[in-house]
Amino acid sequence: MLTKKSRIKDVYANPIGRDIIDRVLLQMNISKKAVNNPIIGSLRLKVLPKLLKSQLDEGFVDTLLTLLNTEHETAKGNDEMILKAWWKEAVFYQIYTRSFKDSNGDGIGDLQGIISKLDYIKELGIDAIWLSPIYDSPNDDNGYDIRDYHKIMAEFGTMEDFNQLLTEVHNRDMKLIMDLVVNHTSDEHKWYQKAIQEPNSKYGDYYIFKDQPNNWTSFFSGSAWNYVEERGQYALHLFSKKQIDLNWENETLRQEIHDMIKWWLEKGIDGFRLDVINYISKRSGLPEANESIGKLMEYKGVEHYFYGPRLHEYLHDMKEKVFIPYNAFSVGETPGIGMEMSKLLTADYRKELDMVFSFDHLEMPGRTRFDDYHYDLNYLKSFMINWMENYGEHCQPSLFFENHDNPRMISKINSERQYRNVLGKLLAVIQLTLRGTPFIYQGQELGMINQNFQSIEELRDVESLNLYDELCNTMKKEEAFSKILAGSRDHARTPMQWNNQQYAGFSTGKPWIMMDEDYKICNVETQFQDENSILRFFQNLITLRKEHRVIYYGEVLFINQKEKDLFAYYRKDGTETLYIEINLSSSNKKRTKYPEGIRLLSNYAEDSSSFLRPYEASIWKYN
Ligand code: NOJ
Repeated sequence: MLTKKSRIKDVYANPIGRDIIDRVLLQMNISKKAVNNPIIGSLRLKVLPKLLKSQLDEGFVDTLLTLLNTEHETAKGNDEMILKAWWKEAVFYQIYTRSFKDSNGDGIGDLQGIISKLDYIKELGIDAIWLSPIYDSPNDDNGYDIRDYHKIMAEFGTMEDFNQLLTEVHNRDMKLIMDLVVNHTSDEHKWYQKAIQEPNSKYGDYYIFKDQPNNWTSFFSGSAWNYVEERGQYALHLFSKKQIDLNWENETLRQEIHDMIKWWLEKGIDGFRLDVINYISKRSGLPEANESIGKLMEYKGVEHYFYGPRLHEYLHDMKEKVFIPYNAFSVGETPGIGMEMSKLLTADYRKELDMVFSFDHLEMPGRTRFDDYHYDLNYLKSFMINWMENYGEHCQPSLFFENHDNPRMISKINSERQYRNVLGKLLAVIQLTLRGTPFIYQGQELGMINQNFQSIEELRDVESLNLYDELCNTMKKEEAFSKILAGSRDHARTPMQWNNQQYAGFSTGKPWIMMDEDYKICNVETQFQDENSILRFFQNLITLRKEHRVIYYGEVLFINQKEKDLFAYYRKDGTETLYIEINLSSSNKKRTKYPEGIRLLSNYAEDSSSFLRPYEASIWKYN
């Protein structure tokens, strides 16, 4: 058992301790080397607050100890071969339906729109599709606030459309996974309506109510509690005011969720992406949040639910009862979860989840999504090296740079127009040649970039709008707007750019969200005709991936790790060796050695000789 007298190095030797300390260091932009320093390592835990520039108080140490002492497991080492599975070989494509393709001219993407583009997705080389929520919803958070799990959102179509979509996806030999949002429902869900109107019915305990709110805050600004007049109590909402947190402690509720999942699996879908699934177990008693952790993480209360006491139990139960019988795949969205916790959530022998999405690579140390800064790819390199070398054979990494919750990656790294094409391809090389399962977000295959929003009125996302209002209390409107622009999720939610016609061929009607003029130069139709486009590069790279199975299960061997701006690695198995060589900077970079073998694919047409050009990324095959 770890106590306040334990030494920092002992805490760091504990896998969960390491995750938490790493996370804190990341947030504070302090190098991990600090912990490996023998003097610092031998200090006792109780001095940590002082060491961390007094930014963390005593309560932080208590919270850390609670977390450490509730997790008794550590992940196994690499003792076996990697088990094979379809989802370890697949390339996934995420569709945000609202913005993908509209079939009926109402300016909102829909299921028939998706069906009309399945051939495109297949041609790109995609094996599996992840659909963001398409269930009935009042759309406070674009479908992540579900009103009815068994119904399709009217704007998106009908259940017949869905059945057709599933058949058509399967006819093309692709798989379909759905979004599963079970941390919360909409306040318009009948369970919630019953819970507030008939508190003594079985629904009365389906949500988290409290007589007095605690100090937790919502991810979408303000307190995490709504006053509910009907009950004279407060209801917890970690996200918007209309997304109320379910009470997983209630067994009947868990059973209901299992039944609902089975209902979808009976239809033949192939699995789920589980929305903020690591938040489902809240520490009992819902203790007050530690203020200093709140300040550091920007949200209060996270320490009491991001890795809750019954999380493993709930996941294991769900896997055994629901996922395994249907042979269904699961990938959990798990913000704040580090590598060691991820191992415990996904190791094959533990039977909880198949994979997770962790997010620590999307922002640089000390930065958050709403900071305006340039992302240095050397950080991505160090992150990837760590995961590739240490995640282990029992776990499968997910590889992604974009989704519907983040601005476009190219814009984050370098928004100079001249680099857009090479940079888009460079990211594709990293994503499709490391070990792991790639998830491509719609439009990423075109190199889509952040939109040129001009005013707050053009934004639609509840997170951006709430944050803007909050910021306006303390800063000028222009300043608040520019902060929102840096991180708004709407950058990724503008319509997919199909052609250079009106509304980019997305719809015949005015789209639900604005789009700038970028579609005139960046769209599917133009890129398909251009051999050098990002789209064709993705297509070729996915084909290459399928031809070189070493990418699925082979070893990853990094070389010259210390050399700044160079990201170089081998993929090796008993039959072949690939060499990947990437210049992470926008300057020329001297090569120490010219690669042997043949160049299979590169983001530059002509080969260079003694130096690598800006963002040059190539794949070589060795004999
Ligand atoms: C994560 C989803 O990806 C995001 O879009 C949503 O707002 C929150 N979870 C709440 O469901």
